[in-house]
Amino acid sequence: MITSDDGAAPTPDRRRRVLYGRRVGRPLRTDRRRLLADLLPRLTLDLGGARAGPLDPRAAFAAPVFDGGTPVAPRAVWLEVGFGSGEHLAAQAAAHPDVGLIGCEPFINGVAAALQHIEVARLENVRIYPDDARAVIDALAPGCLARVFVLFPDPWPKARHAKRRFIADANLDVLARVMAPGAELVVASDDMGYVRWALGRLLAHAAFAWTATRAADWRIRPADQPATRYEEKAHRRGIQPVFLVFERDDGV
Ligand SMILES: C[S@@+](CC[C@H](N)C(=O)[O-])C[C@H]1O[C@@H](n2cnc3c(N)ncnc32)[C@H](O)[C@@H]1O
Repeated sequence: MITSDDGAAPTPDRRRRVLYGRRVGRPLRTDRRRLLADLLPRLTLDLGGARAGPLDPRAAFAAPVFDGGTPVAPRAVWLEVGFGSGEHLAAQAAAHPDVGLIGCEPFINGVAAALQHIEVARLENVRIYPDDARAVIDALAPGCLARVFVLFPDPWPKARHAKRRFIADANLDVLARVMAPGAELVVASDDMGYVRWALGRLLAHAAFAWTATRAADWRIRPADQPATRYEEKAHRRGIQPVFLVFERDDGV
């Protein structure tokens, strides 16, 4: 088991390097604590433990979350790695009620903020894993994801921290396993060092093909994606983020 710096809930693999920063920020207001206690258990994605077989994530949406809610039989499942405060996750779930959204985020204040969006909109099609996305990816059945978002991942700009960057060869290998042929991987960043790094890893990986054909394809956010909090921060600082959209190649 690994633990985060604050000693909060452990993640399942002791050998793994922790990729994220803090797990807990400012003390939570009462309503956010209520959401963590009451709503989070109903939404938490169950990975089934060490002896479970590969997880078909569609099954996780079979029971309703809210009183009087209707269970979802998703036509596709999408994954968001590091959803921050969950604005993008909730907006995508509201815009695509026939898609199941899995969001992973170890920062508990962010999870609480996301739960608020989910409760207000009574979203039945979101499941949360309040920890490291790599545990979810490892548990998933091959080819079960149609879309993966890695939006403004922590850039870890110092060379000595490069091993903590999420876009890395080992993570791309496991993502390639769980993404269906033609599935889309969207990586956004406002850190040009990270953009170069991510592009290098992705272009070198045989399972991913860059969909861009002109500059606007990486300069402009994909049309159906709302801006995230970190994208808005970048614009306020006068930085134009980059959006890398890659497709899971079906030949590999
Ligand atoms: C810079 S924030 C961006 C948040 C959000 N995507 C946005 O654009 O506003 C990066 C987030 O990724 C989360 N994160 C880092 N490593 C992660 C991992 N291995 N699995 C899931 N989330 C992770 C961090 O906790 C942090 O909230």
